[in-house]
Amino acid sequence: MAAASSGQRFHLSPGGALRGRLRVPGDKSISHRAIMLGSIADGETEISGFLEGADALATLGAFRQLGVQIDGPEGGRVRIRGVGRDGLRGADGPLDMGNSGTSMRLLSGLLAGQRFASTLIGDASLSRRPMRRVTGPLAEMGAQIATTEEGTAPLRITPTPELAGIDYRLPVASAQVKSSLLLAGLYARGRTCVTEPAPTRDHTERMLAAFGYPLTRDGARVCLEGGGRLRGCRLEVPADISSAAFFLVGASIAPGSDLTLEHVGINPTRTGVIDILRAMGADIRIEAERDVGGEPVADLRVRSAPLRGIRIPEALVPLAIDELPAVFIAAACAEGETVLTGAEELRVKESDRIQVMADGLARLGIEAEPRPDGIRIRGGTPGADGARAVIESHGDHRIAMSFAIAALRAAGPIEIEDCANVATSFPRFATLAGGVGLQIREG
Ligand code: S3P
Repeated sequence: MAAASSGQRFHLSPGGALRGRLRVPGDKSISHRAIMLGSIADGETEISGFLEGADALATLGAFRQLGVQIDGPEGGRVRIRGVGRDGLRGADGPLDMGNSGTSMRLLSGLLAGQRFASTLIGDASLSRRPMRRVTGPLAEMGAQIATTEEGTAPLRITPTPELAGIDYRLPVASAQVKSSLLLAGLYARGRTCVTEPAPTRDHTERMLAAFGYPLTRDGARVCLEGGGRLRGCRLEVPADISSAAFFLVGASIAPGSDLTLEHVGINPTRTGVIDILRAMGADIRIEAERDVGGEPVADLRVRSAPLRGIRIPEALVPLAIDELPAVFIAAACAEGETVLTGAEELRVKESDRIQVMADGLARLGIEAEPRPDGIRIRGGTPGADGARAVIESHGDHRIAMSFAIAALRAAGPIEIEDCANVATSFPRFATLAGGVGLQIREG
């Protein structure tokens, strides 16, 4: 699956508890969007809490190549001198999106309506991921984007005289596709509308509003008119609930844990993981809820609690899509069986997260039956035989961190291979996790 293994490993000793307070890095989805909208806005945009992970840095690097002056990041602060709606200029080489699906899909929309050509490339994992879900509807708007025969990157975008707005119904619940079309819609004639089959993260819509761009929502349909302008602003990026999720699970499964995760974004399109864990019996309290620049934020206090297996409601799947690998670890430590359905999207993430998680759970002696659209997991004791378990992460950051957390309830040591990509979303994971009680060593 993965390209050449990175050689970076996590070594985990079994047991321990998570205690204290922790602020995980900034939200990845919001960090990407802040760079994109700040770059094409009029005037300056100042960002704090920016995620200094490889994915968001790939977006930042791309906009520098497109002629935008961006200072930072320094301590999570970024300053963008917006070039205005039509101020981007063609890059002198391909734009490398690394491992980041969000960068590639959103940028393909934003760049489709420019007067210059662009080429988007990515690493081995990203080069296998489906891109027709964006290039198809963008072509309906008049965009000219060539993919490989398999519908994958490199994406070669040729300038087109004009894009036209469309009224598009998403076949899969995808915030990346929705956002890509809305960004293309900024440059299109007339109105662009996207209807989603189930709610997906709405950070693009909220952030467009923060930049003063009008858009309307009517139930599942969101629309905007092309041709408007964005006004630079100040943005504060909350801590990423997707990164917090490992600790929500870890503190739930590790007896004696009492951990507070600070300043976590709790946008209702992202909180499926809290609902799922609570339904399993987790003790998670939402404290000091507040609003930060149009995004709700809170401290999450989680204490260990006995978990039980559940049938995960399908409606929660898009609201917890990135957190499901961590949920699988909760299921592996729960009493009874957990069943997930309606989650075939997991097969086209940074790795095939259904198969890769099932394989890793099997290494830990946990009964896990992968299915085309989900998985069935019977709870038990990970690594019950006490032997050292070696897990392949397939270069997928969320797989690596999920199995790291599993060590809290394992009977034996766990070694996780190919962990360099953890830095795409969670720089300094091992240091921060070690600071609150995970017995982890990198090497
Ligand atoms: C994201 C949307 C989701 C998510 C990804 C980030 C975004 O992808 O899995 O990590 O920032 O819009 P899909 O839209 O493909 O579900």
